[in-house]
Amino acid sequence: MRAKDIREKGGDEPVTMLTAYDAPTAELVDSAGVDMILVGDSIGNLRLGYESTLPVTVDEIESATAAVARVTQDAMVIADMPFLSFGADEDDAIEHCGRMLKDADADAVKLESGPHTVELTRRLTQIGVPVQAHLGLTPQRENETGLFRQGTDEGDAREIVDLAERHEDAGAFSLVLEHVPANLGATVTEAIDIPTIGIGAGPECDGQVLTVDEVIGLSEDVAPFSKSFGDVRGEMREAIDSYTTAVESGEFPAEKHSHYEEDVDELY
Ligand code: KIV
Repeated sequence: MRAKDIREKGGDEPVTMLTAYDAPTAELVDSAGVDMILVGDSIGNLRLGYESTLPVTVDEIESATAAVARVTQDAMVIADMPFLSFGADEDDAIEHCGRMLKDADADAVKLESGPHTVELTRRLTQIGVPVQAHLGLTPQRENETGLFRQGTDEGDAREIVDLAERHEDAGAFSLVLEHVPANLGATVTEAIDIPTIGIGAGPECDGQVLTVDEVIGLSEDVAPFSKSFGDVRGEMREAIDSYTTAVESGEFPAEKHSHYEEDVDELY
């Protein structure tokens, strides 16, 4: 799927987006018909053992994106640009985003957005790097804003609507809106033509995104606006316990898991 398809999809049936950080998960997400796969910087706290997304590197996102892109047939693959890989120096940002498309085979990048990403979005779009914007709660700014709901007073809400319009004008092909009041989600969706993809932004957005770890029930913690649709953590725990018990009891490996060769019978 290309940026153009996503842009045109808003308004029809809801757009679906999920994160994935590895090939087997991406294969399942893609074959389920999900429109966009985000290689989120949430890989930091969900898979890499960091306490936040801030330490995630360009190399880590590039390597995960390449794994996801290798097996994805239909969905758009979006690389989530890590903290400080963009927003300071334009040439560096272009190089980092370019690596995602040239070396990791992503179809687009996502930038946690603000006033500082409007012109960068315009430049990247002009040179052929599709940009998904991200407003509301932007976890890379957690040291400044905390990880709280955003757009809860009139001034902040107006700023989010204004930035959404400016990023649309700059060429963003869609906009993630995270953890804002549902009525603000509806207002932004009304104000712009590109699809809004909500995460804790209410049902009026053009689409929804969650982290796959929450959806499958792998995460220990689930955000209040998120939902688990499975219990992979419980299943993994059960399988690992069963394996340990089987090895300790001598039940595994059984005859059928072993093979014998006459030639190596009497070596000692
Ligand atoms: O990194 C991430 O997973 C995200 C989504 C939750 C939007 O940015």
